Amino acid sequence: MTALLPAPKPVQPLAQPPVMGARVPLEARLAARRATRPLRTVVLGCGVVGGGVITNLPDPLILTAILARTSRPEGAFPAPVFTDADAVFASRPDLVIEALPGGAEAEALLARAVAQRCHVISANKDVAARRPDLIREARASGRVFAHSAAVGGGAPVLETVARLSASGAGIARVRGVLNGTSNFVLDRLMAGESLESAVAAAQAAGFAEADPSADLDGLDAANKLVLIAREAWGVSLDPASVTRESISHLPSGAAQSARRQSRRLRQVALLERVGSRVRARVRIEALAETDALARTRDEGNCVVLSPERGAQVIVAGKGAGRAPTAASMLGDLHRLIAAVCS
Ligand SMILES: NC(=O)c1ccc[n+]([C@@H]2O[C@H](COP(=O)([O-])OP(=O)(O)OC[C@H]3O[C@@H](n4cnc5c(N)ncnc54)[C@H](OP(=O)(O)O)[C@@H]3O)[C@@H](O)[C@H]2O)c1
Repeated sequence: MTALLPAPKPVQPLAQPPVMGARVPLEARLAARRATRPLRTVVLGCGVVGGGVITNLPDPLILTAILARTSRPEGAFPAPVFTDADAVFASRPDLVIEALPGGAEAEALLARAVAQRCHVISANKDVAARRPDLIREARASGRVFAHSAAVGGGAPVLETVARLSASGAGIARVRGVLNGTSNFVLDRLMAGESLESAVAAAQAAGFAEADPSADLDGLDAANKLVLIAREAWGVSLDPASVTRESISHLPSGAAQSARRQSRRLRQVALLERVGSRVRARVRIEALAETDALARTRDEGNCVVLSPERGAQVIVAGKGAGRAPTAASMLGDLHRLIAAVCS
């Protein structure tokens, strides 16, 4: 997706900018302070996603350091790999690209990046959902904090929500398959595989993290609903308040029973406005084959956006994996470069 953002124009800085989504809403202010030198860039995490970003970094960036948990031989990557975050931040980055597993470590490093007034591009829905204050702080200091890859992988979900909101169509309801790992696992359960073997296959394919519980238990999808709600309505939901059902607790025989009825099991995430309240839930449903979400295969994501005005919009694509997720981060990167580099 390109050209989703309006052309830069000068505006006054907001005293307390609202936290509105993953896009790069600060071009106007950033345009006034365009960088005259290449952006010094560090990448935190060089696994499935980070590795895909590193091999495709565009020209106006200088990659100064990479952070990993384990050391790498010299020359393995186009910049030195450190296992010590101090060494990475010592290279005084302008931009931090973050592709670490969610959790306290990533949260602390993102807080450090924001405190050091770096631009941030992150794939991390866990931290983005729980720490809107970091995003607010970054934007208040005129920095970009973008996280398109945190929802939808390669499917431009947040981008489309932002476009519908900006167009005045508004968003009334969002219903989607937002977790590629759970979709992949459910497809295999329906083919007769065990949960253990389906999860192992998802891990081998690079979709599932070492601990897949956030995928299976719906927490990952709940975090994504939080980010969509923020983008659509500017509201702050607590991920813990989202009602969830876990694939791990599916009754035995549920997959076979769905198959016999020509239905497909899907982890369905729902977000809707009911009066002044927002309802958010993630549950396992046996969908008719005609349902758009039932047609999502393997690690695919599919989201049906119902605007307040106008026709439904369906966004679908690969929800996980190196290439689509890295491409989404690179989309943020190109928008950042367009906004801040001369
Ligand atoms: N994979 C996907 O399809 C996908 C899709 C959308 C979003 N995401 C998000 O992208 C992020 C990264 O996912 P991934 O699949 O790329 O994970 P991954 O393959 O496990 O890579 C994680 C990277 O982080 C490094 N790392 C882990 N713990 C660390 C620590 N304590 N200190 C320093 N480095 C550490 C690892 O180092 P080593 O290499 O030395 O182990 C590795 O390079 C996650 O937030 C995930 O939710 C992933």
